[in-house]
Amino acid sequence: MPANKKILVVYYSKTGHTEGVANDIARRLGADIERITDLKNRKGLLGFLSAGRDAGKKARTAIGPVEKDPARYDITLIGTPKWAGNISPAIRAYLEKIAKRLGAVAFFATCAGTPLEPVLNDLETLSGKKAVAFLGLTMRELRDERTYQEKLEAFTSSVGK
Ligand SMILES: Cc1cc2nc3c(=O)[nH]c(=O)nc-3n(C[C@H](O)[C@H](O)[C@H](O)COP(=O)(O)O)c2cc1C
Repeated sequence: MPANKKILVVYYSKTGHTEGVANDIARRLGADIERITDLKNRKGLLGFLSAGRDAGKKARTAIGPVEKDPARYDITLIGTPKWAGNISPAIRAYLEKIAKRLGAVAFFATCAGTPLEPVLNDLETLSGKKAVAFLGLTMRELRDERTYQEKLEAFTSSVGK
């Protein structure tokens, strides 16, 4: 879509929703993609509880190696699920690590259904940047193909300009 903009999509996803959105965005924009891994075990009930507790405390976590340098891209699109009202600890850790290397940014987030403004605020604060665009998706919007495609189109158009 964009003639020559270099775009990087970075995301963390535990159960695949944010990953699906990241893949769709990357496909539409011809962007490179990087998945952030959380080295803490988030599986099962204990993993779920630790996820909520860590996110609620705004704790970071140890993440796997980051391979792509955002400084080599015109814009980085960063995606996270909402956990306990906050961004995921893995994306918090990622932003703390690479904020200084970011050019322009846009963000996307998925959640069960609660407001995503606090997530956007956190992402802007941690990156030290105002987002060019924000795509927030609830579970209901993810399931409604028409709404999903419309929101995806609006987001990718403003990012690709
Ligand atoms: C530990 C945990 C806490 C969550 N907290 C919230 C929340 O505060 N508000 C909300 O709307 N959804 C919450 N959710 C739901 C996720 O945001 C939602 O399922 C999201 O799409 C998951 O993304 P993923 O599949 O990429 O991991 C929570 C999910 C988990 C696992």
